[in-house]
Amino acid sequence: MTKRIELPQWKALASHSEAIGGLHLRQLFFADPERGGRMVAEACGLYLDYSKNRITAETLPLLVDLADACGLQQAIEAMFTGDHINQTEDRAVLHVALRAAREAVIKVKASDEKKSYNAVKRVWQVLDEMVKFANKVRSGKWLGATGQRIRNVVNVGIGGSDLGPKMAYEALKCYSQRDLRIEFVSNVDGTHMAETLQGMDPAETLFIICSKTFTTQETMTNAETARDWLVDVLGKDAVPKHFVAVSTAAKEVEAFGIDTANMFGFWEWVGGRYSMWSAVGLATMLGIGPENFLAMLEGGRAMDDHFRTAPFAQNLPVIMALLGVWYNNFLGADSHAILPYDQYLHRFAAHLQQVDMESNGKSVDKDGHRVAWQTGPVIWGEPGTNGQHAFYQLIHQGTKLIPADFIGFCKSQNPLGDHHAKLMANFFAQTEALAFGLPEEKVNEVFKGTPAELVPHKAFEGNRPTNTLLATKLDPYTMGALMALYENKIFVQGVIWNVFSFDQWGVQLGKVLASQVLKELKAEAPDLKHDSSTNTLIQRFRQMA
Ligand code: F6P
Repeated sequence: MTKRIELPQWKALASHSEAIGGLHLRQLFFADPERGGRMVAEACGLYLDYSKNRITAETLPLLVDLADACGLQQAIEAMFTGDHINQTEDRAVLHVALRAAREAVIKVKASDEKKSYNAVKRVWQVLDEMVKFANKVRSGKWLGATGQRIRNVVNVGIGGSDLGPKMAYEALKCYSQRDLRIEFVSNVDGTHMAETLQGMDPAETLFIICSKTFTTQETMTNAETARDWLVDVLGKDAVPKHFVAVSTAAKEVEAFGIDTANMFGFWEWVGGRYSMWSAVGLATMLGIGPENFLAMLEGGRAMDDHFRTAPFAQNLPVIMALLGVWYNNFLGADSHAILPYDQYLHRFAAHLQQVDMESNGKSVDKDGHRVAWQTGPVIWGEPGTNGQHAFYQLIHQGTKLIPADFIGFCKSQNPLGDHHAKLMANFFAQTEALAFGLPEEKVNEVFKGTPAELVPHKAFEGNRPTNTLLATKLDPYTMGALMALYENKIFVQGVIWNVFSFDQWGVQLGKVLASQVLKELKAEAPDLKHDSSTNTLIQRFRQMA
């Protein structure tokens, strides 16, 4: 396979970056004053303004040429039709089936089944079970072992079995039934479980043990601790009323002592970090209610339809992915900031870190060769306006190029006084300041009376690129569309970088070594055979613990 950097389309972009890389956004807007109304795209209620990027009218078409040369359209079709595109694990990648319409048909051949089957039919069977269960718990029909109503739900999971459902629950919290407390415990640090259970009554608590494999050390340790906590007070027989499981691994669930009748399944073709739409979202559904959860799936589905059918130059996930490629591979950026101006999205960047970095943080291409180009960027971010008082200094005046996505909403879910106008004033002002900066000769117009020696410190270079995503309101449909937009963006980038986006071998080595170290921490007199640093640290820990 031709190496990406040898493609004529890649080379054309490299020359283009040399030709226009030195242009400032001030010049670009001066030369093309209407670009702010033209470099936009809209779908599923999301309005994308990408005009404040370091691009000319030629850039996107050149990027689209690269996408075509990399076979993007065929790759999209391969995913949506159940091809085993996760080749290192020989699996289909069908999180899109999780949000498909009930009547849709997507055939899949899974390794644990003899025949291919309709993935969507299975998805809806589980969704229906989830809806029934959620309604029982929310209405108080599902009672704990002592006949008390469930007041606390604790999701026990980590990675994709925690970040996605927690992010979605937090994002849509204003739709939740407030008398049902939803918590998420992920860290194997006992503090997480201990602090979460503080003041909770076991008789009113339901645990969802959420793990695709049901073998993850952190989750199983936390699950056992939760079971001990409950059994101590209510006895062993109470477990079925207080523990349900979300997993693909029925045998392991049974071995843990959870009745498989209370297990909500999903499938090998759902990657952990793409699973918040499946039964992994049970805690989210319990919190926000089935109707809102299904509306979130609808938003995701609408974005998938747009992604699959819209021409690339008007396709939101494709545009955002290609702009990311532009900065990552041609302008030397190595991180990407996610800056939502909505407090409800305070876990959005954290979830995207897993989805993006676990997917495209690879350095070997699909042929097993070391890549000669950059792959996934570092993803980071916090909600505005908090970030403005923390790290924006570096984005504005630091030496690094940090493309950023600003995500904002026209209507607040909590319209208090003029809070929302102030929030959004900051939102618009920031992208303007980042793009256009403040040249030295204008410093005194804005910061009157600035002495000459302070002028360089108060000037802003500008030319900091941003995307702006604007939607009416952070409702469940919009939330689904937004998340599917990013999932699909990440898919496109994996295709361009020619990496396998749906495995995560990079997490395995640490797990293996940790199990060895654990034995050494517990042993009377371990024979430590690590390097001198690790040996000394372990010895010191053993002396001090
Ligand atoms: O260690 C990484 C990982 O495998 C993630 O990909 C996954 O989301 C997480 O662990 C949790 O896995 P599981 O759902 O099987 O417990």
